[in-house]
Amino acid sequence: MWNFQEIEEQVKQEIAAVADAKALEAFRIKFLGKKGLVQEIYASLGTLPKEEKPVVGKGANDLRNLVTALMKEKAGSLQKSGVKEDAIDVTIPGVAQLQGHKHILTQTVDEICKIFEGLGFVVHESPEMETEFHNFSALNIPVDHPSRDAFDTFYLETKDPDAKGRYKLLRSHTSPGQIHIMKEFEPPLAVVIPGKVYRPDAVDASHSFMFHQIEGLLVDKDVKFSDLKGLLTEFCKRLFGKDIKMRFRPHFFPFTEPSAEVDISCYICGGKGCSVCGRNGWLEILGCGMVHPHVFEAVGYKKGKYTGLAFGMGVERMAMLKHGIHDIRIFYENDIRFLKQF
Ligand code: DAH
Repeated sequence: MWNFQEIEEQVKQEIAAVADAKALEAFRIKFLGKKGLVQEIYASLGTLPKEEKPVVGKGANDLRNLVTALMKEKAGSLQKSGVKEDAIDVTIPGVAQLQGHKHILTQTVDEICKIFEGLGFVVHESPEMETEFHNFSALNIPVDHPSRDAFDTFYLETKDPDAKGRYKLLRSHTSPGQIHIMKEFEPPLAVVIPGKVYRPDAVDASHSFMFHQIEGLLVDKDVKFSDLKGLLTEFCKRLFGKDIKMRFRPHFFPFTEPSAEVDISCYICGGKGCSVCGRNGWLEILGCGMVHPHVFEAVGYKKGKYTGLAFGMGVERMAMLKHGIHDIRIFYENDIRFLKQF
């Protein structure tokens, strides 16, 4: 025969000692599990004399209800006091986070901009989505100019009244930044404008439909070509080292007159000729020139009042030259093995 009073006492004592979810589960198994006490009592019914069966059956039912009620109460109080099986264990050692760093292109932009800041320039931003006026016309590139072909990029429908038409476009160079700056500020001014540009180019080892440029503009009274030469010579020495040799080659850009391209002596072979410089000892690094009077006219500056110098360089190209990288595509592939080298 079962002593239900005693069992009830035991149950109450044991539930009082339960302090966490694990102990609560052990308690449940002990009394309500398949081999628990309640089952054992039910199983014994068959062996009992007929008159005892209803008493013991009722006792077992009452016991089951009691255990269930006590467990529910306990689970509630455990939850309130925050003691849970999966509570945070502050003594477990932490999981180290992988620390990232700036992309090599961002580092290159920062490095170049810092050099120009040291020379008195201010870093400015300019929109990636441009009007036809800023990207072309104001830069002395009229509608029928052949250099538009290489620059005609991605057109986007717009409702912006400034667009003076249905379309804006993704800028094909950072030079439209010159127009924004000059329309907003009166000289003297000296700015560098870094950012993304877009071209209708098929992707290969040296071309990408999107890449980065840094534009430079200095406007004042009496700026001379010798200022341009002096400035860019100092810049190249600070970026590539004191021993670098430079040359200015005459060139054509619609928005500068005269215009030039700057080459540096090949940093790999020192100018002797190798595969990086195409065996001629020189590497082209940027375009530059004196701001064309038509550009000053387009931004509304008084005729003849100012002169200015401008230059533009490709960031990928600078990074490739500096670090001996041969394929532009690798910058955009997010391959950690490449990125963590810089
Ligand atoms: N915008 C030119 C290009 O993308 C680069 C350039 C050349 C910028 C000469 C200039 C410059 O400011 O004076 O090819």
